[in-house]
Amino acid sequence: MLNYEDKIKNLSTLKELEELRVEIFGKKGVLAEKFSKLKTLSKEEKKRVAKELNEIKERLLFLLNEKRAFLEDKELKERMKKEAIDVTLFDGKSESGALHPIFSMIDKAVDFFISMGFSIEEGPLIEEEFYNFEALNLPKYHPAREMQDTFFLKDGKLLRTQTSPVQIRVMQKQKPPIKLISPGAVFRRDYDLTHTPMFHQIEGLVVDKEGKVSFSNLKYILEEFLRYIFGDVKIRFRPSFFPFTEPSAEVDISCIFCNGEGCRVCKKTGWLEVLGAGMVDPNVFEAVGYKNVSGYAFGMGIERLAMLYYRVPDLRTMFEGDLRLLEQFK
Ligand code: PHE
Repeated sequence: MLNYEDKIKNLSTLKELEELRVEIFGKKGVLAEKFSKLKTLSKEEKKRVAKELNEIKERLLFLLNEKRAFLEDKELKERMKKEAIDVTLFDGKSESGALHPIFSMIDKAVDFFISMGFSIEEGPLIEEEFYNFEALNLPKYHPAREMQDTFFLKDGKLLRTQTSPVQIRVMQKQKPPIKLISPGAVFRRDYDLTHTPMFHQIEGLVVDKEGKVSFSNLKYILEEFLRYIFGDVKIRFRPSFFPFTEPSAEVDISCIFCNGEGCRVCKKTGWLEVLGAGMVDPNVFEAVGYKNVSGYAFGMGIERLAMLYYRVPDLRTMFEGDLRLLEQFK
C-alpha cells in the first residue's frame, strides 16, 4: 500500500486526484477489496490486519486531503492568473459619452428654477382628457383644441400634448402655495423642419393667496431665466391666447443670430419666440376646487431653447442620434 503514498505525492491535477481517490476508497477500490478479504482470516489475524488497514486508510485519507487543498489552491491561482483583467490597461479606444443637448438644456433650466425655490414635479405621458384638456379650460369640441393635434389612444386616453396637465394633478393633491416646474416629453401629430411628434417642455406654475402672485412676478422670473440662458438679450411680452391663462402672453427674445437686425432664422423680424405664459384662468382654479387664489403659469419647448442655445439649425437632427452631432456636446 505504500506505493499509494508516492502516487498521492506525485499527483499534479485535481482530476488525477479524483481518479486515484476512487481507485483507493471507491466501493470497488483497493481498500474495499482488502477489507472484504478479512473474513477469510483467523480471529487473531483479522484483528491485527484490520487495525493495520484502518491505519493505512486514515493515513492515505489525510495525505489525499492535504494534496487536494494544495492542488485546489494551485489551480485557483493559475486560473486567476489566466483570467486576470488588467483594469489599468488603457485600450486607447474608450471614449466618454456626453449628455444629449436636450437633457443638458433641461438640467440647466432645472438648476435655475431650483435656485429660485421651485420644486420638480412629474406626470404621466399617457394622460386622461380631463387633465390634458377639460380641467385646463379646454372643453370637448372647443375649437382651441385644434391648437394641439393629438394622438388619441383606443381606450379614450391620449398622449399628453403639453406638460400643463401636471398643474392640475398637483393642484388636486396639494394646497397652495405651489411653486413647481415640470419637465418632460409631450406628443403632437406634427412632423416638419420645426416640429417632431415627440418633444420636451418645461411647465411652470406658481399659486398663492389672492393678490400674492402678479403678472410682474411672472415677468421677473421669466426675464431672469432668459438672461440666465441667453445672456444679454432684449425680451418682450406679446399679448396672446392660451385657454388656461388670462391674460396670456408669448415671450420673445431679440434674435441671437443677428442681434435683432433681422435674418433668416428670425424671419427678418429681429425676434425669436421662446415661450408662452399668463395668469392662471379662474376656470382652471374652479376645476381643482381652489378659491381665493391667484397664480401664473408658463410653458416652454426645450428643443427650441436647445436649438437656439447650441445653434443647431434643424430640429430633426436632435432625434437622429448621429454621433457627429452628439460628439460636439462632450
Ligand atoms: N401648454 C402651452 C403649450 O403647450 C404652453 C403654456 C403653458 C402657456 C403654461 C401658458 C401657460 O403651448
